[in-house]
Order: sequence, then C-alpha cells, then structure tokens
Amino acid sequence: MCGIVGYFGKRKASDILVDGLRRLEYRGYDSAGIACLFDGRIDVVKNPGKIKDLRLKVDSAASPILKESIQGIGHTRWATHGPPNEVNAHPHLDASGHFAMVHNGIIENYKDIRSGLAKEGIECISDTDSETLVQLIAFCYKGNLEDAVSEALQRIKGTYGIVVMTDHEPGKLVVARCGSPIVIGIGRNETLIASDASAIIPHTRDAIYLEDFDMAVITPDGMEICSVDRAPVSREVTAMDWDAAAAEKGEYKHFMLKEMFEQPQSIRNAIRGRLDYEMGTAVLSGLDFSARDAAQINRVLVVGCGTSMHAGMVGEYAIEEMAGVNAEVEQAAEFRYRNPLITPSDLVVAISQSGETADTLAAVREAKQKGALVAGLCNVVGSTIARETGRGVYLHAGPEIGVASTKAFTCQVSVMLMMALKLARTRRMPGHEGTEFARWIQRLPELVEEVLKQNDAIKAIAQKYAKCEHAFFIGRGYLFPVALEGALKLKEISYVHAEGYHAAELKHGPIALLQEDTPVIALLNNVPGKEKTQGNAEECKARKAPVIAVVSAGDEGAAEGFDDVIVVPDCPPAITTIPTVVALQLLAYHIAAARGCEIDQPRNLAKSVTVE
Ligand code: AGP
Ligand code: GLU
Repeated sequence: MCGIVGYFGKRKASDILVDGLRRLEYRGYDSAGIACLFDGRIDVVKNPGKIKDLRLKVDSAASPILKESIQGIGHTRWATHGPPNEVNAHPHLDASGHFAMVHNGIIENYKDIRSGLAKEGIECISDTDSETLVQLIAFCYKGNLEDAVSEALQRIKGTYGIVVMTDHEPGKLVVARCGSPIVIGIGRNETLIASDASAIIPHTRDAIYLEDFDMAVITPDGMEICSVDRAPVSREVTAMDWDAAAAEKGEYKHFMLKEMFEQPQSIRNAIRGRLDYEMGTAVLSGLDFSARDAAQINRVLVVGCGTSMHAGMVGEYAIEEMAGVNAEVEQAAEFRYRNPLITPSDLVVAISQSGETADTLAAVREAKQKGALVAGLCNVVGSTIARETGRGVYLHAGPEIGVASTKAFTCQVSVMLMMALKLARTRRMPGHEGTEFARWIQRLPELVEEVLKQNDAIKAIAQKYAKCEHAFFIGRGYLFPVALEGALKLKEISYVHAEGYHAAELKHGPIALLQEDTPVIALLNNVPGKEKTQGNAEECKARKAPVIAVVSAGDEGAAEGFDDVIVVPDCPPAITTIPTVVALQLLAYHIAAARGCEIDQPRNLAKSVTVE
C-alpha cells in the first residue's frame, strides 16, 4: 500500500532509492529499506522508522555493494501483516539470499503458500504475506526471472505492485502490478520505477503506467512489457506533468500548512475555463455528455472514502437542491459489496484525490459492470480511477503531499458544485440564477483568502483547546458534511478523539459525553436551520462544554454567549462549505502543532489506501 522505488542505470542506486523513498514519505509508512545488487551479490538495509535513519544506516554501512551498485529496489512499508519491525520491513529476500523483492498490497492466500513452501523445506522468517511471494518466485526459478515471476503470480490471490531482482541475472528488474499502482520512468540511460510519480519526477517526465496484470522486464538492452501470463501488450509513454517544486515544502513548516494556503490558487485552477457566465452554467468537457444526455440522468450516485466521501455529501445536497435530481452518496466499499440497484440512467461519480483508493476503484468497476454511466473526479492525472472511468473531471489541485487532505477537498467541492450547476441548468434552474451561482463559485478563492487571513486568530483559539482529549463538531444541512470533515481533520493529525454529528443528533446519545473540557465546534453560519443549531449549541453550553461558534460575517450576534468565535464570509449555503472547512482545517492544524504532532505523516495513516 505504501511506497516502491526501483532503479537501474548508470548512477549510484542507493542515493536515488533513498531520495525516492524520501519523496514517498508523505504517503505514510512505518518502516523502510533498500536492496542493491553489485558484482553478483545483493545487500539489504532495513529500518523500522524514518527515512532519515535509513539514510544514516545506508551511509554508515561499509558494504561496497551499496556504494558501487547501479541497480536496486526500495520500499516504505505500511504494515498489513505483522508489526513494523526490521524483519518485516521490505525488501524481502528468499531463503537463499539470491532474490530480493519489494511488494505493495496483500497476498490473500499467503497462508496456503507458506504451508506449501514449508512442505518443500522452505521456512519464512517474517510475519508478512509478502515474503511468501519472493520465496515462491525463488522456488519457481529455473534460470529466467520473468518466467519464475509469471509462474508465481499465477499462483497467488490478492493485490500487488512488485519489483524483483536476482543476483543470478544482474541488470534485470521484473516489475508487475495488480491493484497497486506502478509507474516506470524512462530516463537517459536509466529506468526508474515507483508506485507514485512523485518519487521519480525529478529524474524524468516520460513514463509508462502499468495496467493490472502487466509485467515489465527491464534489462540493459531495454524494456519489454507483457501480461503476467506472457501475452504481448503495448503501453504508451506519457508525459508526467507535475512540477517537482510543487512537491517541496518551501518556506512552510508542513506540507499541510502549505497546501491550506495554496487553496485560493488550487480552486482557481479547478474552476478555470469551466464556468460560462453568459449561459449561467458549467462547462465540464471531461463529462462528455450533452445537455440532452444530462437531462436523461435520473439519479446521481456518488462514491468515495473519507474526505472524498464528505465532498460527495456536499455534492449530493447541491445536486438535489439545485438540479432536483435524486442524489445519494455512499461509502465506496459499502456500495461495492451490498449489490446496489443501478440502472442505465444512473450516473455514478467516483471521487478520489489519489485515484488509487482500492474501495473506490472496486465501486467503479461494479458500477460499470451494472451498466451505469461512470465518471471520475480525481486529482492525480493518469491514476487508475481516472483511466478506468475514462470520463470525468480532473481537480487540478496539484500534488497533495500532506496525508490529511485539504486542498483536494476544496477542489472536489468546487467541482461538485459545478457539476450540480450543469445538471441544474438542464432542468429547472433559470439562466439568471445559474449566472449568479457561477459568480459565487468564481469568488471562492477570495472567500478562502478571507479565512486564511484569520490564521493567527484561529491559532490562538487552537492553543486554548490544545490539551482537550475529545471534541465534537456539529452542523446542519450543507454544514453537516463540513462538521464530519472538521472532525476527521482533527482526529487524523492531532489524535484528539473528535466526532462530527448532525446538530440534531447530539441529544440522541452523544451529549452524554460532554464535559467542561470537551469543546463543541458549532457551525452557526447562515444556512437554513441555523437557529436550531444555535439551540443545540446552547444545550451543550448548559452541560458546561465550551462552544467555539463559527458564524457568518455580519451575523456575529449568533455567537453571543459562546466561548470563542470564528467569522467566515457570508455566502450562500452550498458556497459556505468551502470557507468554513478552511477555518476547521486551520483549527485542526494548530491544535496538532501545539500538541507537537507529526502533521504531515500522522501515525497509522497512509496517503492512498490501496488495500480493501
Ligand atoms: C483525508 O484526510 C484522509 N487521509 C482520507 O480520508 C482520504 O480522503 C481517503 O483515504 C480517500 O482518499 P482518496 O481521495 O485518495 O480516494
Ligand atoms: N502486505 C505487505 C506487508 O505487510 C505490504 C504492505 C505495504 O503495502 O506496504 O508487508
């Protein structure tokens, strides 16, 4: 699920591998390692913990293999099978030490394979599912690595992105994928492999994205791609378009901080050229259906996970309210497994920053299988969901490195609002209302700027509550998903136990948990039902919980009697979701910073969740 880097070329492999792993750190990991091959031998260095410690270990190793090698593989692990320790870290070697492999994903039938190997006298030394695969490859080896990999992969069930090498065949790397992304960068006299373009983008822009069941064989003579069962396939070289500088922190202390401050620009990029003020609609060319086709859509089903699902909820509300089209949002894994009823007049929208989330991808495949029109809302260009949906809208948020999603969320909501506008204009919304709404979308960057200007004030509030262990976020209507997202941000990065609730739901149970040291963040902006949420906030106050009120500018009175106030610009309910969430992102960030948390790589989390 985490990071893979591979290298074969003319330069010092260990430097390129460790640097590549550093660029993948943002994905979240718990241990890391590299293996290099030189002079017919393989050497491995692994370490539980951070890449900087791995680097020290590599630098201080006396091994000539690490110093001289021009071929190697590296990995950041996000443990699924067995605790994060040195033995379980990748690369894994087979029992003879002649084969090394890195693996992302899960080998589901690893227990059967392990017991089969044991019968042959081959014992695994780690707890991982991955090690069984390299042992199996070595067992299948009869003098040609790709034959062995092909045979082994046909015996396993599960997901994988792998890179394998053996000292019997120096200069060769065998790469394969099924359900876990792999990109191969083609440089001058060198080939780079990674699970994510950010690891190799400083070295080359020319890349081949492997598809599921592809296997690539890299040798000093070049590269060949075939399917795992050895049928020929052809894959195009595409240009990766992200600027390497965008993946650096610059003057900011954390990527998350940088990405929050980038939001005016990222939203500008997401909406650029997509609003038609005269016709009062949105022009989303990636949704290649005409106004006539759009008018045939009976229902919109939005699928996603985590933050992306929250963006989908805002979309659900907007589509129903503005377009009068039945809309539903569903957790992608649930959608996939509960055998949903789908008709050809349904539009299924898959939302995913990474475009690689396993559950969302599975939902896309299920929806396609059932004959729905499927569209993707992805940030990562060329990602699996973007490619498999074939139709959709890119977010243009730029690389999002912080594990906690911020700018991707606000771009997702911006795009969902444009989609709602497009659908609304094919139905009941009159042109002048469409134009007015388009103008509000256009103003989003400046509305977000207004909130960012309050960074210091929000920081002061955050410091006041930094020691709390529990927090509640409450909101209604469009602000309900915002409350969920605010709570998710806080729990992810500060480890404060935070819950988002519909304001009305609090008194059906959760209110029992309120105490003097449990802040309630009440979203009291101008949306229908504001007065009722105000009443719910009063109920919290009456139980001694401190209340941080978020209110619309010009309506500061709504915060009267509460402990702290954050003012966001006054705007229509659907629009207010974006400036409001930015205030909650800042609050979460400063609470986490005050608690000394590792903001960009929170414990236990991974940036893209490629296991189900
Ligand atoms: C967001 O802060 C989370 N880290 C997480 O919920 C994320 O949104 C989720 O895993 C979905 O990822 P995706 O958008 O890449 O599909
Ligand atoms: N399942 C493997 C393990 O636990 C790989 C995890 C990953 O993708 O990082 O080691």
